[in-house]
Amino acid sequence: MERLVLVRLLSVCLVVLLVQVCSGQDILGSYFRCRNEYDIEPSVFEALRAGDFSVRNSFVECFGECFVKRAGFMNDNFTFNRDTIMRFMARFVSKEVAEVVYKSCTENITPTYCVTAFEVYQCIYENVSKKWDTRK
Ligand SMILES: *[C@@H]1O[C@H](CO)[C@@H](O)[C@H](O)[C@H]1NC(C)=O
Ligand SMILES: *[C@@H]1O[C@H](CO)[C@@H](O)[C@H](O)[C@H]1NC(C)=O
Repeated sequence: MERLVLVRLLSVCLVVLLVQVCSGQDILGSYFRCRNEYDIEPSVFEALRAGDFSVRNSFVECFGECFVKRAGFMNDNFTFNRDTIMRFMARFVSKEVAEVVYKSCTENITPTYCVTAFEVYQCIYENVSKKWDTRK
């Protein structure tokens, strides 16, 4: 009996692990880890998660940077991980659209702590969700 439970538990763990490793990103997990780290206001957190960028201050920007880095979109040296970002966008838009959005959102950036990450994420998110309506 107990062994069965253990086996089940192990297979659940394995599936969870595989999904995360295979997709290579854990967007939601990154959000929650950064929320804990920054102790951000629940309403602001929910707004950001839903793509509402209207509340903006340096605290929120730094939360954004935390998320963007945890999700593997950006490195500490302000370089971007193209593959990771492309994979994120592939959920919403075609590869062609993603290429254009990636390019326009990540070129000509001025490296600024917190601000850059927040703005790049906003740019990508808003452009992708805008085009999402016109379908993949
Ligand atoms: C920036 O950091 C990433 C990840 O640590 C590294 O792969 C890359 O080579 C670095 N780029 C530059 C220009 O230092
Ligand atoms: C979409 O991308 C353009 C760059 O091509 C950028 O200027 C603009 O701010 C972005 N739009 C939104 C809604 O973020």
